[in-house]
Amino acid sequence: MTDLPTPDRTSPDQTDSEPMGDLRARARGIDKSFGDNHVLRGIDFDAVAGTTTALLGPSGSGKTTILRTLNVLERPDHGTIRIDDVEVDFGVLPLKGQAAREQTASLRAQSGMVFQSHNLFPHKTVLENVIEGPVQVQKRPADEAVAEARDLLEQVGLSDKSDQHPFQLSGGQQQRVGIARALALRPRMVLFDEPTSALDPELVGEVLAVIKDLASEGWTTMIVTHEIGFAAQVADQVLFLDGGVVVEHGTPAQVIGDPHEDRTRQFLSRIRRD
Ligand SMILES: Nc1ncnc2c1ncn2[C@@H]1O[C@H](COP(=O)(O)OP(=O)(O)OP(=O)(O)O)[C@@H](O)[C@H]1O
Ligand SMILES: [Mg+2]
Repeated sequence: MTDLPTPDRTSPDQTDSEPMGDLRARARGIDKSFGDNHVLRGIDFDAVAGTTTALLGPSGSGKTTILRTLNVLERPDHGTIRIDDVEVDFGVLPLKGQAAREQTASLRAQSGMVFQSHNLFPHKTVLENVIEGPVQVQKRPADEAVAEARDLLEQVGLSDKSDQHPFQLSGGQQQRVGIARALALRPRMVLFDEPTSALDPELVGEVLAVIKDLASEGWTTMIVTHEIGFAAQVADQVLFLDGGVVVEHGTPAQVIGDPHEDRTRQFLSRIRRD
């Protein structure tokens, strides 16, 4: 085995600002509008290193937008995001210019996104898909990237598929390649946006099992999911979002098992009925 980047072996606080302790990520006052649609209205949360945060909430509540702002696929209008030792205050960051580009690029590199569907390169093999980012983007040596990719493929249960092409894989296997591909970039936090919602029901379990495995191995993850049972089982922390605010947060036992807020109760009873 090569030395895989389990992100929680170290979390040195390398900046001069307020120490994070065991925190891996911190968001404060995240605001985002699309035109006059005010989608995020002051989002705050902390994510402890090595834990899983589940993000629940109705359609349109802003879940995907939160993940996209963490990965700076969307730029917040205001607020501060910190992942590990990189912190960006979007309220003061210039809109354009070299400094803005560098800061957003360094924050983006801290997290890896796994989307609803995989977008693998169809003409590349599984292994080539996994090494693409480390070699092309991070300019790491190919032999090192290959060795690490083989370990990651083993971790997601696909050692025997490394020379296949995506069309030869099931949807669940393709999604697991997508997970290996995100991990290959050695993110400090892995963000999953409904990673099983595009899958046939019989394939959901194998992907959830891989995500559960990552959580138990110490990766710091945030997952948007409608799989309430899974969230209850795997998450250390649940954030319930509605209308662009965190309505309630706490342990799964509290937020899912004994919600304080009416909006959370209504959402849970609706989703359990479906
Ligand atoms: N790029 C965009 N441009 C304009 N509006 C957007 C954009 N992305 C999201 N929105 C709007 O922001 C709101 C929140 O969307 P978001 O995708 O974050 O919700 P969600 O909670 O992930 O919903 P779902 O459960 O349906 O995936 C919606 O009103 C959506 O239309
Ligand atoms: Mg969404």
